[in-house]
Amino acid sequence: MPNYKDRPPLSYYRTALPGVDYSELQGKLIVIEGPDAVGRSTQIRGLKPWLEELGHAVLDTGMARSALAGKGIKEAKQGNTLGPVTMTMYYLTDFADRLENEIIPALRAGVVVLTDRYIYSVMARALARGENRAWMERTAGFALVPHATFYLRAEVQHLVSRVVVGRGSFDYWESGLDNGFGRNMHDSFVRYQSRLIKVFDSLAEPYGFEVVDATRPPVEVFEALKDSVARIFDAPEHSQAEDSRKPAQRVQSIRSAKAAGRRG
Ligand SMILES: Nc1ncnc2c1ncn2[C@@H]1O[C@H](COP(=O)(O)OP(=O)(O)OP(=O)(O)O)[C@@H](O)[C@H]1O
Ligand SMILES: [Mg+2]
Repeated sequence: MPNYKDRPPLSYYRTALPGVDYSELQGKLIVIEGPDAVGRSTQIRGLKPWLEELGHAVLDTGMARSALAGKGIKEAKQGNTLGPVTMTMYYLTDFADRLENEIIPALRAGVVVLTDRYIYSVMARALARGENRAWMERTAGFALVPHATFYLRAEVQHLVSRVVVGRGSFDYWESGLDNGFGRNMHDSFVRYQSRLIKVFDSLAEPYGFEVVDATRPPVEVFEALKDSVARIFDAPEHSQAEDSRKPAQRVQSIRSAKAAGRRG
């Protein structure tokens, strides 16, 4: 199985996007992942203002929010004829649109991009429905490698209580009812979410997720996340850009830095 955890941040996994100069990307890409109702929105609501107070410009994005496909996905989910391959392609279309029109421009401008779910959720949903992993990895291979992926991990019983307390009822799609995983909403939710957790677990190593114990109270999860996010900014400016630049470009940038030093 391919291992991507050593790919430098802001490079691509498998396929370069035409017209994108990866060496121009300056910002940070931070992914919050995990199964349904694990607490991603709760954490992002805290992380965004915290990062802004530290002086960062933050773009907060998430699945099915693209101008191109967001509305269509919501409409398609109203019916129950959306098959797993169409669903996957629809979510990847949504992701590609946000990548090209929001995420990459923001990274070029040095913005911190905080994303609620990433290609891993698309992969997890497809793999939990029995789709092929190699196909999935190839198809989603145009994604950028994030600086960090925080996988909020909890057991399925925690998810059940968060859905019941937070929302009061199980949703058709997050219960995997399209695949009939169980005889009723609750059974189906438990089986489907257990499969999703298993898939996320299997992605954690090859994609270098940082696993965050999300069974703790929200404030404790938040403290852990802040520590880990702060480390991204403390890390020496390892330059994914430098790594992916051609030697000639690197020499050019060293020359410009030296010239600027002489001028200053
Ligand atoms: N660490 C936690 N412990 C207990 N309850 C939590 C925790 N984090 C969030 N919750 C509660 O669980 C419910 C779901 O949280 P939230 O909406 O943040 O999850 P989510 O992962 O964004 O869900 P969704 O998949 O619906 O987008 C909310 O009622 C929230 O208050
Ligand atoms: Mg949410």
